[in-house]
Amino acid sequence: MYRVSVIGTGFVGLCTAVCFADRGYMVLASTKNKDKARLVNKAISPFYEPSLKEMLQKAVKKEYLKAVLGREEAILHSDVTFITVGTPSKRDGSIDLRFIRQTAKEIGKALRKKKGKHLVVVKSTVGPGTTENVVKPILEKNSGKKCGEDFLLCFNPEFLREGSAIHDTLHPDFIVIGEYNKKSGDFLEELYRDFYKDALPPMVRTNPATAELIKYANNSFLATKISFINTIANICEKIPGVDVKTVAEVIGKDRRISPYFLRAGLGWGGSCFPKDVKALIAFSKSLGYEPAMLETAWEVNEDQVKHAVERVKEKLGTLKGKKIAILGLSFKPDTDDMREARSVKIIKKLLKESATVTAYDPKAIPNARRILGDKIKYTTSAVKCLRDADCCILVTEWEEFKELKPEDMSENMRRPILIDGRRIFNPKKFSVALDYWGIGLGKP
Ligand code: UGA
Repeated sequence: MYRVSVIGTGFVGLCTAVCFADRGYMVLASTKNKDKARLVNKAISPFYEPSLKEMLQKAVKKEYLKAVLGREEAILHSDVTFITVGTPSKRDGSIDLRFIRQTAKEIGKALRKKKGKHLVVVKSTVGPGTTENVVKPILEKNSGKKCGEDFLLCFNPEFLREGSAIHDTLHPDFIVIGEYNKKSGDFLEELYRDFYKDALPPMVRTNPATAELIKYANNSFLATKISFINTIANICEKIPGVDVKTVAEVIGKDRRISPYFLRAGLGWGGSCFPKDVKALIAFSKSLGYEPAMLETAWEVNEDQVKHAVERVKEKLGTLKGKKIAILGLSFKPDTDDMREARSVKIIKKLLKESATVTAYDPKAIPNARRILGDKIKYTTSAVKCLRDADCCILVTEWEEFKELKPEDMSENMRRPILIDGRRIFNPKKFSVALDYWGIGLGKP
């Protein structure tokens, strides 16, 4: 069995490491963050993700997974290294390759001392050409070795979603191997054949630049699909009796469209869609092509937030001194991740209008505090959050919010106005005692 190392213990890195360890591979997870290394070695997950805690505990107990601070130790004691360091956005939307460059340099230096074959796999999302034009030369320069012969190189994009990361890693729809040469691709294919055994997903082998673009195209398509259905939702709102949910349900039955990522709402957030759409726009522009469709998808997404706040103002008039209850802060349910969360954009707009904001989220309050501090109040339950509110905005569709009854709102709020930003409540039931507005629902 090949030994695996992972450089970077963020979301993708740690989930990848844990899944390999769970299948019995020896895994070294390299991080420069001492606190994170300590947490991982104590089997404590640095962030919330369903099943991660249990799998981490098992892996650490069985000694299949260890976090290390050095890069060299990770490289020398493994056969394949996944690079999963962050690729943050720069001001112009293009990505910052600082961590990728630094990691490639460190891996290169370690490879100089390494005997035997080694495969380097870039998993971080990078622009087309990065693996071959940036990573490869740095590895070669620092190792003094030749890529494709002395060490091997692939780009292998990740398609896991937060909140279902473990499931997505264990059951992907497909795997893309962007191989520097055939030998490199063969190595990674062999690893995945061993990992997935009889459940091997379809595997596509391409050159690295194609694989790099596939990742951006995948996320940008999904984000555009959501902006599309949000556009339809906004049209629906102008037509009495028309509901975007019905429209989405029916067009989703057309296999060419598919029912997934057709949920209208307050728009897309998270660490990937906004960053990747922006990066593809910047990349495309750098090649002299204006990607109008992606720019529109972006604008539609920004407008969804404005649209929701406008609706609150329509209902309440001035927001000065009004108390708004926000249900859900994380960018999606089942995660405590607040990156590019719609909640932050909405709350900032409400605060700008001098509203007071109270919020509740089952997991994300500690992370929300880091961003919003004490500008808003946080509560320990949904019902407490609703108390004396003039309006409630449902921002993130956590399962527990689906249990709320109209009375929970009408009996606790000062004014029973509900903005259902993710369409989780039954409009008929909630319209009886409440002033209910659901995104994409034309008033009958
Ligand atoms: C996304 C992709 O779905 C993954 O395939 C990819 O691997 C990942 O980015 C990445 O590049 O690392 P993620 O951001 O974790 O995954 O979460 P999604 O489930 O895709 O949701 C993203 C945003 O879209 C959320 O804000 C969610 O609320 C929103 N969304 C999603 C909708 O508004 N409507 C939908 O129908 C689906």
